[in-house]
Amino acid sequence: MYSEEIKREIRALLQKRNGVLLAHNYMRDEVQEIADITGDSLALSMEAAGTAAEVIVFCGVHFMAESASILAPEKTVLLPRLDAGCPMADMVTVEGLLELKARHPGVPVVTYVNSSAAVKAESDICCTSANAQKVVDSIPGSEVIFVPDRNLGSYVARFSDKTFHFWDGYCPTHERLKAEDVVRLKQEHPDALFVCHPECNPKVVALADHVCSTTGMYGFCRESSATKFIIGTEAGILYRLKKENPGKEFILASPALICPNMKLTSLEDIRDALTSMAPVVKVPEEVRVPAKRALDRMLAIPRD
Ligand code: 13P
Ligand code: SF4
Repeated sequence: MYSEEIKREIRALLQKRNGVLLAHNYMRDEVQEIADITGDSLALSMEAAGTAAEVIVFCGVHFMAESASILAPEKTVLLPRLDAGCPMADMVTVEGLLELKARHPGVPVVTYVNSSAAVKAESDICCTSANAQKVVDSIPGSEVIFVPDRNLGSYVARFSDKTFHFWDGYCPTHERLKAEDVVRLKQEHPDALFVCHPECNPKVVALADHVCSTTGMYGFCRESSATKFIIGTEAGILYRLKKENPGKEFILASPALICPNMKLTSLEDIRDALTSMAPVVKVPEEVRVPAKRALDRMLAIPRD
């Protein structure tokens, strides 16, 4: 009952502010339920770039709200929990990237969107897990610097002739899934397909029947004739998978697949942000302009 009331309040505030509520696929169920758009990092960036709304309430983590601010500087971008960060994004600093660039002069930098605006500003092009392969294929030359996710980088490198220079970053949540967990579940459920995100460790990825972004998982599980899936990504994805596929069974590959940052945002936080119009995420122009160049190059590549 209380939750219905707060949802009504949020809808009314969104209308009053001419706002749109974007939620990543890992958000809490009740946040996904009330969102105007749910999606992966790429879909949400595209939505932020194209929306007619004046206020973007970004239910995700800090780098995602920064991307929205970079792409839509004239809008007010609210991140209901300013403390929702991404430990992987924090693993690469501008200084570290500049050092890596100095060691490989002239080599193009491909930066996963899970990174700060300042790091994007020092990059040639961004990528997400949904388009990393196409992004790497689109750049000239035989070498690439790939930051910060070593796991996504090594997955993409398998399909490329280029020499990769990795940053040693990783997602602590996906890294918690161990190959032994998957082997055991596959034994217990021999009829299930194992689908995982490329942020998983390569030993886990090697066991997968399919590797894809979060949005890719919705399509794969919907279209597959299989009826049972072991899911190797953050638990929030189960909400829509179950809702959209009532006849199918989804087993989370490990109970440790919970990103604490993605779970911070509550309905109360959203209501409070829309009431006070804070916290706002705004990227300064001197960082925004070069960071936008890297994001725009990525967005120019058509999505499948
Ligand atoms: P995407 O599928 O949106 O790339 O999800 C990865 C992720 O961890 C976002 O933080
Ligand atoms: Fe960052 Fe991993 Fe959480 Fe995504 S799931 S926000 S990559 S820590």
